[in-house]
Amino acid sequence: RTVETLGVPMDLGADRRGVDMGPSAIRYGGLNAEFETIERSIVDGGDLSVPHPEEGEAEAGTQLGGKAKYAEETQTVCERVAKRVSSVRDEGRFPLVLGGDHSIAIGGVNGVTDGESTGVIWFDAHGDLNTPQTTPSGNIHGMPLAAILGRGVFADKPWAHCPEVDEKNVAMVGLRSLDDGETSYIRDSDIHAYPMSEIDQRGITAVTEEAIDAATTGTDHLYVSLDMDFLDPDEAPGVGTPVRGGVTYRESHAALEMVQDKAGDSLCGMDVVEVNPILDRENRTAELACELAASALGKRIL
Ligand code: ARG
Ligand code: MN
Ligand code: MN
Ligand code: MN
Repeated sequence: RTVETLGVPMDLGADRRGVDMGPSAIRYGGLNAEFETIERSIVDGGDLSVPHPEEGEAEAGTQLGGKAKYAEETQTVCERVAKRVSSVRDEGRFPLVLGGDHSIAIGGVNGVTDGESTGVIWFDAHGDLNTPQTTPSGNIHGMPLAAILGRGVFADKPWAHCPEVDEKNVAMVGLRSLDDGETSYIRDSDIHAYPMSEIDQRGITAVTEEAIDAATTGTDHLYVSLDMDFLDPDEAPGVGTPVRGGVTYRESHAALEMVQDKAGDSLCGMDVVEVNPILDRENRTAELACELAASALGKRIL
């Protein structure tokens, strides 16, 4: 299937401005060149429009019955993403969403579900399981997985909640920074959570294989969300919220290659998010984002 990229220059969900330039950085990082080696074509679906605070189109506020900055604008953007992702799929193409902060994954997942049970693999240093009540920052990029699962205030928000995603088909890989509310939620839930300590002990391939199993058992298809802070900041310095102790360059490739090897046929959509070129070194994080997307979608050297 042809891959269609969709840039979402969104940073309202993140503390720091800069991830809005992620889609450009990723394109500049050689996405097309990466895909030339794969036997599938790639087309650029352009960028979605995102409201600008500078032009009075967005106001932080504190909404959703708690602390959630730019809640209305985030809803607007996520609805746009979901619509585009869904029509890309209707055209028989594979949607690859380029971020932008992680809040846009709400739109990505809502765009692919469409009544079908969906597994989700969340490669991330963070849990992104806060709600407007538990968030320490008010930043919605720390809440998308909670929103998708319909947690707390998100339960009655159809733009956010995906009833097609069951906790037991959600696997989080690379965790090393959780807020208190996220830790207790994970403990009491059926989510499969793999912190770095488990990757240290069992290895990235064993852990990723189990994660894929959990996300694909009994589901119609699989969505992969790749937050570039999954990687160690030595490899990927250009992210909004870096956390030391992440996976290496090689481990990241092994993980994403395994997604293709074990679940390539059921893969229905993917996003690569949190690339912040302002904090990057020579665009290496964006280049790595291109490489990892290509690995997940079938690039092999032999
Ligand atoms: N847990 C922190 C918060 O809620 C950080 C979230 C970072 N999320 C991300 N997608 N980079 O603010
Ligand atoms: Mn993260
Ligand atoms: Mn929904
Ligand atoms: Mn994230």
